[in-house]
Amino acid sequence: MSQFLLLMEVSFSLIMIVLVCSDVVLAMAGESEGVFDVRESGAVGDGITDDTEAFLEAWEAACGQECVSSTLVVPDNSSFLVGQIIFKGPCKASQITFQVLGEIVAPASPLYWEGLDPSSWIVFRAVNRLHVTGTGLINGGGTGWWDQSCRYHPELKGCTVLAPTAMKFISCASGSLTKVRFVNSSQTHVLIMGCWLFYVDSLMIKAPGNSPNTDGIHIQSSQYVTISHVAISTGDDCISIGDHTSNIYVFSATCGPGHGISIGSLGRGGNFVQVQNIFVAGVLFRNTTNGARIKTWQVGKGYVRNVLFEHLHFDSVRNPVIIDQNYCFTRGACPEIPHSGVQISNVAYINLFGTSQTEIAINLNCSRTVACTGIMLGSIYLTSASPGKQANSSCTNAYGNTIGRVHPPSCLIS
Ligand SMILES: *[C@@H]1O[C@H](CO)[C@@H](O)[C@H](O)[C@H]1NC(C)=O
Ligand SMILES: *[C@@H]1O[C@H](CO)[C@@H](O)[C@H](O)[C@H]1NC(C)=O
Ligand SMILES: *[C@@H]1O[C@H](CO)[C@@H](O)[C@H](O)[C@H]1NC(C)=O
Ligand SMILES: *[C@@H]1O[C@H](CO)[C@@H](O)[C@H](O)[C@H]1NC(C)=O
Ligand SMILES: *[C@@H]1O[C@H](CO)[C@@H](O)[C@H](O)[C@H]1NC(C)=O
Repeated sequence: MSQFLLLMEVSFSLIMIVLVCSDVVLAMAGESEGVFDVRESGAVGDGITDDTEAFLEAWEAACGQECVSSTLVVPDNSSFLVGQIIFKGPCKASQITFQVLGEIVAPASPLYWEGLDPSSWIVFRAVNRLHVTGTGLINGGGTGWWDQSCRYHPELKGCTVLAPTAMKFISCASGSLTKVRFVNSSQTHVLIMGCWLFYVDSLMIKAPGNSPNTDGIHIQSSQYVTISHVAISTGDDCISIGDHTSNIYVFSATCGPGHGISIGSLGRGGNFVQVQNIFVAGVLFRNTTNGARIKTWQVGKGYVRNVLFEHLHFDSVRNPVIIDQNYCFTRGACPEIPHSGVQISNVAYINLFGTSQTEIAINLNCSRTVACTGIMLGSIYLTSASPGKQANSSCTNAYGNTIGRVHPPSCLIS
């Protein structure tokens, strides 16, 4: 069996090389791998010296290696201060491993970003077959940004709305992000955008529960993304799934504190939302504001369909199950719009257990004009986190069925 797999792998790699590399360089393939330690490019790693240029130099070397799989190493026991950096593809290397063993730390002061795009710190752009891995730490050192965020300091003159995402993967195929730890990003920790076939595994993301907009992982305009074995505690969404996404699989995750797993918000500008085939299973939500959430703006159009939430455990979650189709920055401030709304259909919630901080454990607040259809509730037992209190369900324009025991009792229109 293992020989068979090995054979498969060998023939697959050969096909890859033939596809990617010309005959001239084929002879070189499989000889020596290119390994580029950032220290060889002059990185100091004392946490004080700016190592940005050295990282770029190591990247160019690794990226330019024709037809070998190259590795960029960020060594152990050192802290590398790196400013805004864009690792650009396409690369000549057949595959790149970006191995983070030590720490990469961002400049502490937001002033560093003056004249730069404030939304980015580390960016991988148009790099296929990139594997970011290692047991190292990506430290966003975000406190400087949090202290001036408009979210928490609206009265502050010059407060900021946009702060750097720690790591962005933009326009990529067949990539992965594994084992790395992220702390204290200024804003979102990981963004996956415009990617096809991306794999995230064994990630740890940690920021204080009161840090502003520090989403764990945000996915946008991507297909076939798998996220597994992640532990995320932040001040915003654990994982958020944005527009133009399909075939997203999340399994085995721990979330909290934070805002839970969210599909949305969607349709804010009145655009045509396209989200389908979303699978979320095996998640423990601990002390989060939401569990399984779908949120859309009333002005949105389009669809969210074929969603499965399965095997979820809630430990004192404010809104364990919530569909909010009247999403608005200030509750109730967005006016009701006739004949508009994202169509939500075929959403199943199966095997959910645990406790709700609010009375409404299941809140299916669908658009008044476009109903939610094909909602399925199956094997659910949710109780109030406060002893002696009841948990309840609330439905607005929500159609569907139940299977097995469902508590609190379903309010779906069948
Ligand atoms: C890092 O430090 C640990 C503990 O001091 C040591 O075992 C390890 O060999 C060091 N690694 C490197 C690459 O220096
Ligand atoms: C992250 O930020 C918090 C709050 O400022 C701080 O207590 C913690 O030490 C930071 N973590 C790291 C690894 O720097
Ligand atoms: C829940 O999270 C909030 C916000 O981070 C925090 O203030 C509170 O102490 C947490 N409660 C528990 C029981 O962990
Ligand atoms: C449903 O949404 C409307 C509009 O935002 C809001 O007024 C209402 O309170 C919500 N219902 C529940 C049960 O949350
Ligand atoms: C649950 O909600 C329904 C209406 O949605 C209401 O009639 C019922 O009294 C509520 N039960 C409890 C225990 O709050």
